[in-house]
Amino acid sequence: MSNGDVSQGRRRFLIGATSVVGGVGVVGAAVPFVASWNPSAKAEAAGAPVTVNVNKVEPGQQITVEWRGKPVWVIRRTEEMLTNIKKQTDRLRDPNSEEPQQPEYITDGTFRSLKPEIAVMVAICTHLGCVPAYRPEIAPADLGEKWLGGLFCPCHGSRYDMAGRVYLSQPAPLNLEIPPYRFDDDATVTIGLDPEAA
Ligand code: FES
Repeated sequence: MSNGDVSQGRRRFLIGATSVVGGVGVVGAAVPFVASWNPSAKAEAAGAPVTVNVNKVEPGQQITVEWRGKPVWVIRRTEEMLTNIKKQTDRLRDPNSEEPQQPEYITDGTFRSLKPEIAVMVAICTHLGCVPAYRPEIAPADLGEKWLGGLFCPCHGSRYDMAGRVYLSQPAPLNLEIPPYRFDDDATVTIGLDPEAA
């Protein structure tokens, strides 16, 4: 092999290596371009609305959906739960929901919902952000005989009723947040859209 052959072979290798690097560069440049045209990634980042079939939620059952990275609970409240929500209001910190912890179109300060039987609330304790436990039982041993069902935060013991209203003298300062939501029809709730939104 002559020196000329060696340098020609090396030149071919260098050209090949440069092409590969150039190729990687093109791929690297193309990724952000593709991502910017990916609607689901964009929608997710912006907090796309979430649709729930509430007909699948049994009376007394609670389900969790994720909206904007937050756990949102949908509860189908029973007649007994609705009756109990109206009791013990003198033990609540904000029984009429006067603090702006719900959209303004939630005008029912007692049930804090568009329809009494379907509750939608952000399951994040207003004290330091733990996820409360769903405790629908009446007077369980660990929560005492006055407990009429509700939400109990395991972190520092805050108690909320079945409408997400916090009791007096709890670490949590506010009722649970109610997210924007609407009924598209009797069975379908969309979390993240106001009723009048297109
Ligand atoms: S975070 Fe819920 S009581 Fe402290």
